[in-house]
Amino acid sequence: MTTDLTGRIALVTGAAGQGIGKAIATRLARDGATVVVSDSHARRAHAVAEEISSLPGCSAVARVLDVGNRAQIVEVTESVADELGPISILVNNAAYNVLGPIFDYDPEVWDRIMDVNLNGPWMLSRQAMRQMRDAKLPGVILNVSTYAPDVGGEGIEAPYAVSKGGLNVLTRSCAHEGGPYGIRVNTLSMGMITGTRFTDALHADMQVAERAKSPLGRLAAVDDVVEAAAFLISENAANITGETLNVAAGTHMRY
Ligand SMILES: NC(=O)c1ccc[n+]([C@@H]2O[C@H](COP(=O)([O-])OP(=O)(O)OC[C@H]3O[C@@H](n4cnc5c(N)ncnc54)[C@H](O)[C@@H]3O)[C@@H](O)[C@H]2O)c1
Repeated sequence: MTTDLTGRIALVTGAAGQGIGKAIATRLARDGATVVVSDSHARRAHAVAEEISSLPGCSAVARVLDVGNRAQIVEVTESVADELGPISILVNNAAYNVLGPIFDYDPEVWDRIMDVNLNGPWMLSRQAMRQMRDAKLPGVILNVSTYAPDVGGEGIEAPYAVSKGGLNVLTRSCAHEGGPYGIRVNTLSMGMITGTRFTDALHADMQVAERAKSPLGRLAAVDDVVEAAAFLISENAANITGETLNVAAGTHMRY
C-alpha cells in the first residue's frame, strides 16, 4: 500500500511551529502533496514553506491564517482553490491553550480558545468540504486533538478540554455528512508528545508522572504522530472515518 499524495493540495493549520503541525506538513510534502503551510505567525510560515520547498521533490506555499478569524479562513481557502486547486486534505492542527481554574477564568480568553480550537476548525471544514464535494475529490480531514476531554481537563485546562471535546464531535458530524461525497474525517488524539515546545516546557515531574501512566513506560513522540497522520490521510485508511486514533503510548487508558 502507498501513501502517495501526488497532485493533492493539503492545507495544514499551525504548520509553522516546532512541533506536530510542521512535521505533518513536511511528511505530506514528502508524500507528494502541494502543502499550504498556514499559520498566524507570518515570518515562520514563510520560513517553513521555504524549508519544505527546498527538500527534494517537495512543494509548499505559505499563507498567513489565524484560524480564529472567519473572514481570513474564507479568504485563504478561496485563494488557495483559485491559485493551486481545490483543497483535498485539511489538517486542523493549530490550537490555543491557557491554563487556569474554571471559577476565575477570563471570559475573553475562553472565547478565544473556542474560536481557535473549535469554531475555526468548523469553518475550515465547511470551506474545504465544499471544495472537496464540488471537485468530486476523495477528501480527507484530520483533526489533531487530545484525550483531555475524557478527563475534563484534569482541573487545569477546562476550556481547552471543552473545545477539543467539541472538535472530537465535529469529526463525527463531518464524517457523517462528508461520507456520501467520499470525504473521510478522523481525529488524531494524544497526550504529552515529546519533542514539542509544550511538553518540553513542562516540569520534569509532570513528564515522569505522565510516563508512569503508560503501560509501555514511555511517551509518544512527534514521529509517532506523523506516522499515524500519514496513515489516516492515505488511501490505506480508505475505510476508516469518524474514528479516533490515540497516539499516546496507552496513557489515555489511565487517568
Ligand atoms: N504538544 C503536545 O504534547 C500535544 C498534546 C496533545 C495535543 N496536542 C495538539 O497537537 C496540536 C499541535 O500542538 P504542538 O504543541 O505540536 O504545536 P505546533 O508546534 O504544531 O505549533 C502550533 C502552531 O500553531 C500556531 N498558532 C497558534 N495560534 C494560531 C492561530 N490562532 N491560528 C493559526 N495558527 C496558530 C503557532 O504559531 C504555532 O506555529 C494542537 O492541536 C495541540 O492541541 C499537542
